[in-house]
Amino acid sequence: MNNNDMPKIIGFLCTWCSYTGADLAGTSRLRIPSSIRVIRTMCSGRIDPLFVLKCYLKEADGVMMMGCHPGNCHYQKGNYNARRRYVMLHNIFKTLGLEKDRIGLWWVSASEAPIYAKVTNEFTQQVKRLGPNPLREEIFI
Ligand code: FES
Repeated sequence: MNNNDMPKIIGFLCTWCSYTGADLAGTSRLRIPSSIRVIRTMCSGRIDPLFVLKCYLKEADGVMMMGCHPGNCHYQKGNYNARRRYVMLHNIFKTLGLEKDRIGLWWVSASEAPIYAKVTNEFTQQVKRLGPNPLREEIFI
């Protein structure tokens, strides 16, 4: 792993809830791991499974998907679509030989900065325990 043993984690955050919650975590000076690289999407329903798979092909060790709580999506059903895709990605992970713990889906609202801080820290530790993305060696060596 790089950067003092920190995993490389990509976080896809819906702009209306999770991104705002992450922003609040920053302005509240909560401890956020440096392992997270955030990509803001308009809705968690916009997170195409190909985006996620491409992260692993580009050497990410883990991916976080975050959106508004069920019933609170600004586009009504986007987070339900995200949940279906998340389940589908688990099946694809099995085929690729990736551990399912390398991906996670959370609902984080704009006011839940402490939850954002908690899940990013916990997920970073979880991915750290798993070690580097195994596809990295297969693809890049
Ligand atoms: S707008 Fe946040 S999940 Fe759809």
